[in-house]
Amino acid sequence: MTGRQRRTMTARTRARSAVLGCAALVAALATACQGEHPQSIVHPRGPAAAAIGGLWWFLAVLVVAVFVVTMTLLVMALRRPRDDADDGPPLGATRFVVVAGIVVPGIVLVGLLLASLGATVALRQPESSFTTVRIVGHQWWWHVEYPEFGIVTANELHVPVGEIIRLELTSADVVHSLWIPSLAGKIDLLPERQNEFWLQADEPGVYRGQCAEFCGVQHAHMALEVVALPRAEFDAWAARMAQEVRMPPSEPVARRGHDVFFAAGCAACHAIAGSEARARFGPDLTHLARRRMLAAATVPNGPAMLRRWIRTPQSIKPGNLMPPTPLTDEELDALVAFLLSRE
Ligand code: CUA
Repeated sequence: MTGRQRRTMTARTRARSAVLGCAALVAALATACQGEHPQSIVHPRGPAAAAIGGLWWFLAVLVVAVFVVTMTLLVMALRRPRDDADDGPPLGATRFVVVAGIVVPGIVLVGLLLASLGATVALRQPESSFTTVRIVGHQWWWHVEYPEFGIVTANELHVPVGEIIRLELTSADVVHSLWIPSLAGKIDLLPERQNEFWLQADEPGVYRGQCAEFCGVQHAHMALEVVALPRAEFDAWAARMAQEVRMPPSEPVARRGHDVFFAAGCAACHAIAGSEARARFGPDLTHLARRRMLAAATVPNGPAMLRRWIRTPQSIKPGNLMPPTPLTDEELDALVAFLLSRE
C-alpha cells in the first residue's frame, strides 16, 4: 500500500467515525425524547424553562452545524492529494482563513451572546406573583413554607397551574442549588443570604427537582417534587394543609405513637403543629401522610418505608443526619401509625 492509499484509508476511517459519532448522538437524543419527562430541560412545562430550552436547542443546533462543517473541511484537507512541490499557499488561502477563521466565528459568537441575553431577559423576576414560597436548604432536604397560607412542609412544592410563584431561598448550612429543569433554571441557596427566583407550571403534573451544587455526602439524594395542580385542587390542598390536626390523636394506636414520638426524642429535631414539637432541625411532620415521598424524594412514602426510615435511616441515605431510633416493633408500629395519621 502506498503512502497516499494509507492516507486515504485513514481519512475514510475518520469520516466513518465522525458519521457514527453523529448517528450515536442522534440516537441518544431520540431515546431521551421518549416517555415521561419529570426532570428535563428539553421538555419545558413553564415559561422560564421554555426560554432555557429554546436557548439549549439553539446552542445544540449551532454547535452540531459548526462540528459538521469543521469535520467536512478536515476530511477534505486529508483527502487532498499531497503536493510535494513547495510553490506557496494555494490561491485564496488568506481570504479563506480570514473568513472561516475570524469572520464566521465572530458572527457565531455574537449570535450566542444575543441568544443568551434574550434568555436572560425572559428569566427576569416578574413584578407580581400569586404567592411567595420560602425554601430553606438543609443537608439534605428542603424546608418549604407558604407564609401567606400558614403552611409548612418539606421536599414538596404544590403550585397552581398557570400562576407565577415567587421563591425566597436561603440555606441553613452549606451552599445548595435548586434546579427544577422542567420549570425553571438554577438558583443557589446561600447561608445568611436570601436569593429570589420564580417559576410557573403551565400543565398539571409532578416535576422533579434536584440540588445542583455539591453539598456533602447525600447531595445526590437531595431532591424535591413540584406538584402542579389546577387552581381548585390547589385551593383544596392549601385549605387542608393550613388546618391543624388534632393533637394528641384520639385513636388508641396513634395516641400511643404520639407518646412514643415524644419519649423517643423525635421532638428534638422535628415539628408538629399544635404540639410541643417545634424544632426545625429536621423536616416538619405535621402533614407527613400527605407527602408522596420520604427522605427528600428518595423513596416513596408509606408504612413499610417509613418504618425502615425511622429504624435504620442510614440504610436508605448513608451519612444523613437522622440517627437510628431503637424502638420495639410495637413502638415502631404505633409511631408509624401516628405519623401517617397526620393528613
Ligand atoms: Cu444540597 Cu447538593
